[in-house]
Amino acid sequence: MPKIIVLPGDGIGPEVTEQALACLALLSEARGLQLTFQEQDFGGVAIDRHGAPLPPATLAACKSADAILLGAIGGPKWDTAPERPEQGLLALRAELGLFANLRPAHIVPGLEHLSPLRPDIVTGADALVVRELIGGLYFGEKVEGTEAASDLCAYTRSEVERIAHVAFQAARNRRSKLTSVDKANVLATSRLWRRTVIEIARQYPDVALDHLYVDAAAMALITHPTRFDVIVTENLFGDILSDALSVIGGSIGLLASASTGAPGTPALFEPIHGSAPDIAGQDRANPAGTIASAAMLLDHLGHPAAAAELRTAIDAVLLAGIRTGDLGGTATCREFGAAVRERLLQAIDQREQAAA
Ligand code: NAD
Ligand code: IPM
Ligand code: MN
Repeated sequence: MPKIIVLPGDGIGPEVTEQALACLALLSEARGLQLTFQEQDFGGVAIDRHGAPLPPATLAACKSADAILLGAIGGPKWDTAPERPEQGLLALRAELGLFANLRPAHIVPGLEHLSPLRPDIVTGADALVVRELIGGLYFGEKVEGTEAASDLCAYTRSEVERIAHVAFQAARNRRSKLTSVDKANVLATSRLWRRTVIEIARQYPDVALDHLYVDAAAMALITHPTRFDVIVTENLFGDILSDALSVIGGSIGLLASASTGAPGTPALFEPIHGSAPDIAGQDRANPAGTIASAAMLLDHLGHPAAAAELRTAIDAVLLAGIRTGDLGGTATCREFGAAVRERLLQAIDQREQAAA
């Protein structure tokens, strides 16, 4: 029985997680997936209850899981805490060896008008950011003084190699185009990055590789998003570019992610957005990104049909005009989640009738 650890976290985290969890529970029941769920404290809530963002019991539970579903962590309440919620997230990623963070973004045909970008720019946009997740500036040595501070950016060849393989393989399963994003005109780590990606490319002659500097990439993502298929980049650049990419679909609330490590180890699924303190506790958050993260979780557990059913339901609800405030709609977080489950039930009924 696959064990899912659920980390609702802070702010809108519990609100969006509740909706995604209910979708997973429904699919598990309907398809006999036998998923089991166990909730753990993580982030600011864990600081309040246990004095640390990643308590030992939470880490142990995550290590023994098949998959982890996370809402979001952080918020103003803990911004000056000795150990911030964000450090718990970084520690969890590092402890589980989650070096590859996959962040897909596409425009649902028929929903081009939800994008702040012109329809002729966004129509057909479908990109995947492959973000290196446990190296670079986030994890280099830090010196924090009152007069001076520094964060070391370091990468090893093998760290670049393993993320490059993930990206080339992802490109192979999509449109066979990979853009490596770096700042090789300035940074030594970026020159190592580019050399290594070019070397690995020899093993993937079927994938077309190009390179962009991160500043130019940020512009191209907005002005010409359809030029991208898979984008591979280092930790900080991937963080920034994936939020930029979320503009395409009209809201960061739509974007899902999967963080994976070595084969056979637990993977983590979470929306790319944060705890949105400005709308927390108001039932206004868009749960679509978390529900889509649950779909990625189903794929990871080897249930592609259930994952596809869930994605189809999300798109159908959006196309039916049921949308939260971030997309200009009036639906609450709960109403959106309930509408997705209604579509799931309809699809399950139709499937069962067709089989009878
Ligand atoms: P944020 O993503 O929380 O919010 C940015 C903006 O997007 C806000 O206006 C917010 O209301 C909106 N938004 C985000 N998610 C939404 C959703 N699902 N539905 C509707 N609107 C949504 O980013 P922030 O404000 O910079 O950060 C807030 C906190 O979250 C910080 O403590 C930050 O460190 C943390 N954070 C956590 C994660 C994570 O848990 N993985 C990711 C990013 C930020
Ligand atoms: C994300 C977040 C995190 C990151 C923070 C909260 C540590 O922004 O998951 O995108 O920078 O990786
Ligand atoms: Mn981010």
